[in-house]
Amino acid sequence: MEKKFKITICSGTTCYVLGGAHLMMLEDVLPDDLKEKVEIIGSTCLQACHGENARAPFVRINDYLMENASIPKIVEYLRTH
Ligand code: FES
Repeated sequence: MEKKFKITICSGTTCYVLGGAHLMMLEDVLPDDLKEKVEIIGSTCLQACHGENARAPFVRINDYLMENASIPKIVEYLRTH
């Protein structure tokens, strides 16, 4: 089955130290109904962390780049899209 969301979790150094490490647990904590809609992959630096106002950690969900990502924020996004 085609997954609705492709989630790319940045595990580059900046994101990792600013909370990305925690996001790696996403797959384990997602509710079952969401779990079957997502494909989760890790990535090296998404090149989003270099700007002056960049707020890591970053996660990409399909074409949307989420800054300051957290598990509740990702779940909220998935629920509303
Ligand atoms: S380390 Fe995550 S965008 Fe660069």
